[in-house]
Parts: sequence; structure tokens; C-alpha cells
Amino acid sequence: MKVTVLGAAGGIGQPLSLILKNSLPAGSQLSLYDVNPATPGVAVDLSHIPTDVAVEGFAGKDPSPALKDADVVVISAGVARKPGMTRDDLFNINAGIVRDLVTAVAATAPAAVIAIITNPVNSMIPLAAEVLKKAGKYNPKKLFGISSLDVLRTETFLAQKLGYKAGSLSVNVIGGHSGNTILPLLSQVPAASDLSADEIEKLTVRIQNAGTEVVEAKAGAGSATLSMATAAARLTMSIVRAKLGAPGIVECSYVEGGTGFARFLAQPVRLGKDGIDEFLSWGPMSAYEKKCFDGMLDTLKDNIKKGEEFVAG
Ligand SMILES: NC(=O)c1ccc[n+]([C@@H]2O[C@H](COP(=O)([O-])OP(=O)(O)OC[C@H]3O[C@@H](n4cnc5c(N)ncnc54)[C@H](O)[C@@H]3O)[C@@H](O)[C@H]2O)c1
Repeated sequence: MKVTVLGAAGGIGQPLSLILKNSLPAGSQLSLYDVNPATPGVAVDLSHIPTDVAVEGFAGKDPSPALKDADVVVISAGVARKPGMTRDDLFNINAGIVRDLVTAVAATAPAAVIAIITNPVNSMIPLAAEVLKKAGKYNPKKLFGISSLDVLRTETFLAQKLGYKAGSLSVNVIGGHSGNTILPLLSQVPAASDLSADEIEKLTVRIQNAGTEVVEAKAGAGSATLSMATAAARLTMSIVRAKLGAPGIVECSYVEGGTGFARFLAQPVRLGKDGIDEFLSWGPMSAYEKKCFDGMLDTLKDNIKKGEEFVAG
């Protein structure tokens, strides 16, 4: 199994690579690429950790040496938010970076599963889909937008609120990955029925704005990196385990298809050897959640169109 991280020297890329070095199955390869010249050094640093995962690192303008024979490619390259910025403000810089990297993946590792962290995720995944389509290499079952941090935050905040053990709850988060497009289905957790409508709404809004909570707390030094690396590692390891044949692995991710609501939607999917095996139902929604869902669709569709149009020119 070969996993390649593009953007590997960054705030997310480094801890993500660290977790993967410590989690990938024995005999795997971890390949790092970033325009930052420190990247081969990050690989040397990781290579001193005693796990049976070979690490290599590449810098410079050409990502293809890192992509050769990759089974899974995780992209965190790009710029992060500063206070006062929305994820959408990042579009103009990050769109060109993601387009060029996905073009390189299509040329060198066309069969790889691609998982994208770079924001705005709502637009970057449609953009990547169009780049792959243009190259004749698009398989919607192998393209994932990483919305797992919304799931982690929901599980953390809800457990805190209910006084449950951390990590003991599992919650579907659907929609997209920004502002009101993030929709945690709190009503599906039986214990949450003790919460008032006001508490549910406050918790929902906190989850939707949790990224900004971190951006403001870091005061100009970037956005979520350590929790994000944990979230990305969770999805990446699930993709890897499913590729190796583990059954019944389910994750919420921002992917194409499965619904008639929008071309791309974060939703629960069952993973298999070739990416998505099955789109799963996300279950019942409360009246409040249905209102939030209906209210987000126009924004989500606009975000999708922005990514598609960038490639169409
Ligand atoms: N999906 C999510 O939930 C989520 C959460 C947090 C952050 N993010 C996004 O992840 C991205 C990365 O965040 P970060 O904190 O790691 O930023 P960062 O600035 O610390 O790291 C980004 C890295 O990308 C590299 N890079 C830039 N252009 C490149 C290129 N063309 N090829 C290869 N590498 C390149 C930079 O050298 C840098 O090392 C941002 O877009 C951020 O908004 C997403």
C-alpha cells in the first residue's frame, strides 16, 4: 500500500504524515511532497520512527516522483484561513494549486483514490472531478472531500454536552464543509432527545463555526491542523483498511452521487477495495434539521458550480 501526501510539509501535512507513519500496515510506503524544500528532511525525520513503513520525501516543482504507484493520494496543499476570512476567500489561490496537483495525479497515478483536505472543500472536489474528467480519468467512487473534522467535532461537543465518554458517540454529518452547509444529525442520537430545541440549535451553530473558533484562537497563525490531521488520518486509514479487504467500514465524506439533492454531498458511504462501495441512507431528520438541509442547498450548489466553472474556464 502506498499513500502519498501532497502538502506534506504544512501545518496539517506534517502531523498527518506522522500519524500515517505510526498507523499504516507493515510493509506500506509513505511518500511526501511539498513545494517547501524542507520536505525531504521531514521524511528523514519520520524515517527514524521504528515502524515498518518506508518514507520518502520530495520537494521542487514536480510532484510525479512522489505519485508513482500511489494507491491513495491525500491533498492538503494550499493556503489556510486567517481571522476574518471565509473558506471561500481561499478559492482563488487554492484552485490553481489543486488543479495542478490533480492533473499530476491523473497523469502519474490515475487509479489512485484521492482525498482532498484543501479548502474550500465544497468547490475543490467538483474542481478536481472536472480536472479528472478532462483527463479521461474520473471515477466518482475514488474522489473524496474530507469532511471528517465536522464528524469529530460533533462527536466531541455532543459527548461533552451530554456528559458521555469522549469518543463514545457516532453521528452522521451531512451536506458540505463550510458554515451552514455543515449539518450534524443530532436528532439521531437517542440521548440528545433530552436537549431542548435551543440547546440543539446552539450546538449545531457551534459545530458549523468550529473552524472559525480555531482560526480566531490561533490569531493569524492558521486554521485547524492537529484535529484536522487526526480527522484526515481517520478517513485515510479507513480507505486503506477497506482497500485491504476489511468489511463494513463506513465514513461520512463529501462525494459525488447517491442523492438527487446536489451533485456533491457529504453523506455516509460504505468503503470497499475501489473507494465507495455503497451510498448509505443518512436516516431520519428532525423538522429543524430538514429546514437547515433545505436552506443550505442553494449555497452548496453555488459552491459546486464555482469549482466546475474554474475548470471549464
Ligand atoms: N477539510 C478540512 O476540514 C480542513 C480543515 C482545516 C484546514 N483545511 C485546509 O487545508 C489546507 C492546508 O492547511 P494547513 O494548515 O496545512 O496550511 P499550511 O500553510 O500550514 O500548509 C500548506 C502546505 O501546502 C504547501 N503547498 C503550497 N502550494 C503547494 C503546491 N503547489 N504543491 C505542494 N505543496 C504546496 C505549502 O508549502 C505548505 O507546506 C488549507 O487550504 C486549509 O484551509 C481544511
